[in-house]
Amino acid sequence: MQVKERTFLITGAASGLGAATAERLAAAGAKVVLCDLNDGVTALAARLGEGAKACLVDITSAEQMQQAFDTAVALGGERGLSGVIHCAGVVSVAKLVDRDGNPADLVSYARTVNINLVGTFNVMRLAAAAMAKNSPDDSGERGVIINTASIAAFDGQVGQCAYSASKAGVVGMSLPAARELSRHAIRVMAIAPGVFETPMMSEIPEDAVQALAANVPFPKRLGKAEEFAQLAEQIIVNPMLNGEVIRLDGGIRMQ
Ligand SMILES: NC(=O)c1ccc[n+]([C@@H]2O[C@H](COP(=O)([O-])OP(=O)(O)OC[C@H]3O[C@@H](n4cnc5c(N)ncnc54)[C@H](O)[C@@H]3O)[C@@H](O)[C@H]2O)c1
Repeated sequence: MQVKERTFLITGAASGLGAATAERLAAAGAKVVLCDLNDGVTALAARLGEGAKACLVDITSAEQMQQAFDTAVALGGERGLSGVIHCAGVVSVAKLVDRDGNPADLVSYARTVNINLVGTFNVMRLAAAAMAKNSPDDSGERGVIINTASIAAFDGQVGQCAYSASKAGVVGMSLPAARELSRHAIRVMAIAPGVFETPMMSEIPEDAVQALAANVPFPKRLGKAEEFAQLAEQIIVNPMLNGEVIRLDGGIRMQ
């Protein structure tokens, strides 16, 4: 799937991994629809120019996301929408039982799973329905979906029951979705980032972030959002990448 002159919808585009991906794809000549709850997408779309549109949406809303996909299909013109890079998500930390013996908050658990997992399904189903209507391109493809998991799906730490479960669900959907959508010539991939330097990390205590960075075998640092964007672009252009989850983590295995 080529990037130039194609249209991509990016969620979580106001910040971190999503914003870096939007900038990279736009710089490579793509048209981009930037989706986020945060109004930062409006300024980013203005900066990226004519081929960029902002949509202030909640990814868990069926109606709002349908409108965003309609915007993307219209922006794509004859070619429609070529791909989705779904980065919107939240992190949460809570122990099953806190230090005073109280059980974890059930509403907070359900919120994390709803945004990260149900939200991913919402984005995937609407993306697939929109792209299944495309004519196949020169390489026979109709579209590509890239979801964002986390290494916490595999090596979740204490306090990450909600986050790990939500991201493990994203991992679990990759293969069945790729199998199903193969008949529409739509690929489905997921990236499982390690520890990346984005605003999301500000929600984790600084000493914990530094400890994680020190545990990365090589390079011994946090990942850069541009490195995520680089992999997203490679997934778009490489047609053999399908039904897989790629860890992007410098070799870290969290304890
Ligand atoms: N930063 C890391 O180290 C790291 C590691 C593993 C996985 N991830 C995952 O990568 C993705 C991007 O994270 P990031 O680090 O760029 O975080 P970030 O906080 O910088 O950006 C996330 C964006 O998602 C948006 N968002 C959250 N809930 C939303 C909703 N319901 N509807 C629309 N937009 C919503 C936020 O407004 C924000 O702009 C997330 O799914 C996160 O879980 C991040």
